Amino acid sequence: MSANNPLPDNARRSRLLHRSLREAPPPIATSGQGVWLTAENGLQILDGSGGAAVSCLGHGHPRVIAAIQRQAADLAYVHTGQFSSSPAEALADELVGHEPGGLTSAYFVAGGSEAMEAALKLARQHYLECGQPQRVHLIARRQSYHGNTLGALAASGNAARRLPYAPLLSNAFSHVAAAFTYREARDTETEADFTARLAAELEAEFQRLGPDTVAAFIAEPVVGATAGCVTAPPGYFAAIRAVCDRHGALLILDEVMCGMGRTGTLHAWEQEGVTPDIQTVAKGLGGGYQPIGAVLVTDRVVDPIRQGSGAFAHGHTYLAHPIACAAALAVQQVIREDALLDHVQQRGTLLEARLIDRFGNHPHVGHIRGRGLFWAIELVEDRATKTPFDPALKLHARVKAAAFARGLGCYPSGGTADGVRGDHVLLAPPYIATPAEIDMIVDRLGTALDDVLSILPCKGADA
Ligand SMILES: Cc1ncc(COP(=O)(O)O)c(C=O)c1O
Repeated sequence: MSANNPLPDNARRSRLLHRSLREAPPPIATSGQGVWLTAENGLQILDGSGGAAVSCLGHGHPRVIAAIQRQAADLAYVHTGQFSSSPAEALADELVGHEPGGLTSAYFVAGGSEAMEAALKLARQHYLECGQPQRVHLIARRQSYHGNTLGALAASGNAARRLPYAPLLSNAFSHVAAAFTYREARDTETEADFTARLAAELEAEFQRLGPDTVAAFIAEPVVGATAGCVTAPPGYFAAIRAVCDRHGALLILDEVMCGMGRTGTLHAWEQEGVTPDIQTVAKGLGGGYQPIGAVLVTDRVVDPIRQGSGAFAHGHTYLAHPIACAAALAVQQVIREDALLDHVQQRGTLLEARLIDRFGNHPHVGHIRGRGLFWAIELVEDRATKTPFDPALKLHARVKAAAFARGLGCYPSGGTADGVRGDHVLLAPPYIATPAEIDMIVDRLGTALDDVLSILPCKGADA
């Protein structure tokens, strides 16, 4: 680094536009096996979050690699305007048509944001073809994330990610409170009271907009990175489903992060007693072996389009990419044939117990929450008052760096409490993690957190 240039030499050498344009680029990962990642500097990282809750089978799975190799050799690409492909047809058969909930058709895209864009457009086109063109409003929740493309970002409640692009985001979207009991429920409220208040707020939002102008309500069944593995209180999803039904609006459930087994059932909504009209999935669909996302949809949504214009007015070049579909098919077959949902439930119970052992009495862990192998700890300066740390400390970034230095990959974020204040650390280990690896994840996170807190220039130093 030269004296008058703050950038390290290696930051200037990389021609990649990295996430940080100021810091040294991240280490170059060279291989992955199971839950372990290796970088070219010899660094060994235990992948405690599968990147961003992606690598559900860990790395280097031989069956998935073989499926990709076979498909690449047979047929890498066709355009969906000209051809279908066997892996795309087989993946659709694997995912829909036999599930509870009546999801009957699948639409394959390249990731979560594309899946959400397609879901939003499907909802809009559905109502156009139903003769209800006035349904132009979409209601989502604060403290949520649905993707970074402009439509998906407009749906998102994530304040920090919206801020720079606010002037470009559509006014078709409005937001109601998240079902975030730790932060949003009043001290005097039971969970049932809180649920009733949230349902009443959604009803009021329908009334404000005009109930027959709302196309859909959008929610993550378990909120991912924005708030850190937030599960809704019992009865919440049934209550909001009832509001949607009362007004003839669709329910879009975004399972891009929490779906495909992450919470212990294939779909997170299975644990909520509701079914969506449209569902999006992505990360755990292909497990990171290929970029892929999907929209899963019911006949209720598709039939009017089928009988009307006859075509979904949307598309991308890489829809239903054969290699991506082959990889996702192999991932889903492994999950089913190796009974990995049982694994997620058992290892999830273990992870929960270990987190409670290690952090249950920690002075700066305000809340431990999650489901399956999808858990977060929320960090607070004061447990009694739930006061977050000063956001200027960037505690989440410090914990991420400290964990990485101790050989743990995890997924911390800020803005947990209200979009600006608050920090949490998200864990989403691969479904194949052993008990010893779960122990190691919690140990390394505990050490990293305590080391960071011990040198923090604030009250947190007493931890
Ligand atoms: C719930 C949710 N929806 C949508 C997205 C966007 O997915 P992608 O980053 O693949 O575009 C994400 C990504 O983190 C997500 O967590």
